Amino acid sequence: MTSRSIKIAPSILSADFSRLGEQVREAEHGGADYIHVDIMDGHFVPSLTFGPQVVRSIRQWTRLPLDIHMMVSTPQQFTSEMVDAGADLITVHVEAPIHLHRVVNEIKSSGVRVGVALNPATPVLAIEDILPDLDQVLIMSVNPGYASQQFIEASVAKIAKVKKMLDQTGLPIELEVDGGIGPVTAKKVVEAGAQVLVAGSAVYDTNLDVAKAITLIRNSAVGKSES
Ligand code: DX5
Ligand code: ZN
Repeated sequence: MTSRSIKIAPSILSADFSRLGEQVREAEHGGADYIHVDIMDGHFVPSLTFGPQVVRSIRQWTRLPLDIHMMVSTPQQFTSEMVDAGADLITVHVEAPIHLHRVVNEIKSSGVRVGVALNPATPVLAIEDILPDLDQVLIMSVNPGYASQQFIEASVAKIAKVKKMLDQTGLPIELEVDGGIGPVTAKKVVEAGAQVLVAGSAVYDTNLDVAKAITLIRNSAVGKSES
């Protein structure tokens, strides 16, 4: 596996918000593939973060795809604003909307890529019937809501299970993992089949500069020891 076959998606949740644009640009210059933007509504998860205005501002600072992770109870309320603000991929949680199929297809028909996220306790079968409509599946390896939480080890087996399901469809659906990803866990999740690694604190909250932190994760993910 080459290091470029793995995508790194720095999560700006751990960035310095007082200079968000620059931190996004540092990630792009440091070799990131996506910018991961965590939208939290204080209802689906306990925290509050950003809305479409912040997405629109970030859009001015990078050409990278904006990977919008909607941790909100009513994603249908915000998706068209996110598209207008410059989203490239919108991921909704399988646990959130009652009519997941409708929301997924609304997002698709607005011309952006669509993903579905699963919380740690949600069985993988919950996405079986929606798979053909998806561009991406996001496996949460922590309970969503905060950065810097400990990786849940059972996620490795879950990723392998989902990877098998995705392979069986024969469709090019990307497998993303989010939560507690750093140099050590990156290798395990990639071996299990993950292709896109979200990393918040391991990119923005270390002693390294952003570019070095990204390189370290990418190299560990593919089993290269040098940083
Ligand atoms: C958690 C968010 C993550 C978060 C990850 O609810 O969805 O994207 O930023 O942070 P780390 O990588 O520090 O676990
Ligand atoms: Zn996220």
